Amino acid sequence: MIDNSFPGRFPATRLRRLRGQSWIRDLAAEAELAPRHLIQAVILREDDALAGPIPAMEGIKRASVNDAVEMAQNAWKNGIKALALFPHTGKEARDPEGTAALDPDNLMCRAARAIKEAVPQIGLIGDVALDPYTDHGHDGLLRDGEIVNDGTVAVLTEQAVVLASAGYDVLAPSDMMDGRIGAIRKKLDHEGFTDRMILSYAVKYASKFYGPYRDAIGSRGVLQGDKRTYQMDPRNSAEGNREVTLDLAEGADMVMVKPGMPYLDMIARTKAAFNVPVAAFQVSGEYAMLRCAAAEGAFDFEDAALEALICFRRAGTDMIISYYATDAAGWLNQKSRFP
Ligand code: PBG
Repeated sequence: MIDNSFPGRFPATRLRRLRGQSWIRDLAAEAELAPRHLIQAVILREDDALAGPIPAMEGIKRASVNDAVEMAQNAWKNGIKALALFPHTGKEARDPEGTAALDPDNLMCRAARAIKEAVPQIGLIGDVALDPYTDHGHDGLLRDGEIVNDGTVAVLTEQAVVLASAGYDVLAPSDMMDGRIGAIRKKLDHEGFTDRMILSYAVKYASKFYGPYRDAIGSRGVLQGDKRTYQMDPRNSAEGNREVTLDLAEGADMVMVKPGMPYLDMIARTKAAFNVPVAAFQVSGEYAMLRCAAAEGAFDFEDAALEALICFRRAGTDMIISYYATDAAGWLNQKSRFP
């Protein structure tokens, strides 16, 4: 029997009341995940021999230009607003200077033109960095074993113009050279691309979670050493704020945190400190973790994959680049509430 004579022994606040039924959970929910928050990552391929799944990324294939157009149509139909494109490049097309990055007919440029023709409304985000094109796999130029900062920036400004000319709406430098945002902004403006946005990979870490991406773009076995002289040290967080401060001062419109899930603190920190749109990249290794765990029976892929995305939103992410963005949009469109 309950003894009501001592009301003080009951908790005044019972947080479980707000969790008791799904209608009140929905009314009281803080974060929301909708298709419009998602950006589909697309790895492009030239060669039909590469049509199979990317190692460790079951369910994800490299896309031919035609596949990419289809993906754009499907993404748009499901409420996705933009695609982020990355090219696979074979060894034969790579050289020390990453020359192919400046070819106005390279895979990235052909894909952009084809997508813009078929789905002109969709936004296109182009990765600005040399790693898909260099025969040493680095994002910059290598001289005497060192990554040259300012020489690399000069090439990146050219690459940004090539991508903008092909139709990319957003230039997304992922190279982590110092001063590249200002240089790219100036060059874009000078060439008449004042309307093109810059999404800076500002808080980008030297991370093992990029592992499957190396296979995806053909850098596996190509990359010499690691990227720790230019990408951030996973031990640091204040440095992320310094990167964002500089990139915004140099003209970035939006900033990115990458990887995502192990770095949600950096998303929250960035969103709290700066009044700009914050993107996050749920990278290849994060996808692999979800897929491999699901394959081992640890959880249902769809459920865990949606939970991961809502966590990005709760942390303060405005837009999330994901390999399963379109699938997630499809699941969200089918369901009347967040699972
Ligand atoms: C480099 C770049 C990387 C990714 C996107 N752009 C890898 C790196 O910095 O080494 C990783 C994406 C992923 O892992 O999904 N320009």
